[in-house]
Amino acid sequence: MRQVLKVQISENKEYLIDISDSAFVRLNQEIFEYTKGQKRLVVMSKKVYKLYSSELNFSDDEIYILPDGEKEKNYKNYLKIINRAFEMGLTRKDVIIAVGGGVIGDIAGFAASTYMRGIDFIQIPTTLLSAVDSSVGGKTAIDLPAGKNIVGTFYQPKKVFININFFETLDKKQYMSGLGEVLKYAFIEDSCKYNIPLFLFEFLTLSCEKILQREPLTLIRLIEYCLNLKIAVVSQDEKEGGLRKVLNFGHTFGHALETITKYKKYTHGEAVAYGMFFIIEWAYKHEYINYSYYKLSLDLLDKYSFKPLDKKYPVEKIVEIMKKDKKATSDRIIFVVPNGKKTVTEVKLTTLDVEFALKN
Ligand code: GLY
Repeated sequence: MRQVLKVQISENKEYLIDISDSAFVRLNQEIFEYTKGQKRLVVMSKKVYKLYSSELNFSDDEIYILPDGEKEKNYKNYLKIINRAFEMGLTRKDVIIAVGGGVIGDIAGFAASTYMRGIDFIQIPTTLLSAVDSSVGGKTAIDLPAGKNIVGTFYQPKKVFININFFETLDKKQYMSGLGEVLKYAFIEDSCKYNIPLFLFEFLTLSCEKILQREPLTLIRLIEYCLNLKIAVVSQDEKEGGLRKVLNFGHTFGHALETITKYKKYTHGEAVAYGMFFIIEWAYKHEYINYSYYKLSLDLLDKYSFKPLDKKYPVEKIVEIMKKDKKATSDRIIFVVPNGKKTVTEVKLTTLDVEFALKN
């Protein structure tokens, strides 16, 4: 089974996303065809290298291995990748390929966007999380000790190969992390300005068991739905001037949680799920949504075993982190708030509003 989606950012900026369950032999052929005549630098996570290097047809001297973890998305590793590209003699005609999760895709993408002012870049996400989010849309970045994704570019890949066979080796925590981000799309569907209704909320409700079992055809369909929404958003607003902010639903609080726990306690999707609980609760209390949708929303999260956060963190610290968010203004913190069934709106809250919400 194969689905091909097209991302059209502008008249001459477009690329294809290939979603399939084809055997790795086939994936190898496709990558080979696609990169014919190019030198390739393949940035791969250590875990992915151990699990898949024998399945994938890259030679060891074109692979650059990075250890796993958010802390590796730093300028030292970025420089190492760039230096390696230079040592290998990569020119503007060549390509950097990311094989891994979001960390690998972000740092390799940033390297590709800056090496010789930009060379081709291919994303091969190996986690559900990166398949439904970071591998598409062109955000690349590295972190600074002071914050996540502080240095980065908008740089679209030339091609995205999503092969769901990679997901077989994800542990439950990693898979659920992807589902946290997947659920986000259900709450924002009608704000994405996609031209046909996908009924993702209903699909997630009805197909929960198959999704949890990682049933291949259901998974391909699920990724296709999520990416159709993401493509609709980024093709209308590549650089997050407005519409793209809807993709940050659940992220303001989620990001603060990840930061305060130094990216060690919660996976990204888990933190986003806590963020969704927080803002759904706030929206209901402030009459942005009615009781029936509030209940429906909590039920959907519960169906996937996500629960509201049962631990308190120092409110002032959480607010401090939120104020440093790239999207925050000098005196307001921006939240994407549900304001109706499957729709969201941006709300700018004062520090006091947020402190009050966190304490109550
Ligand atoms: N992860 C949100 C975005 O791509 O804009």
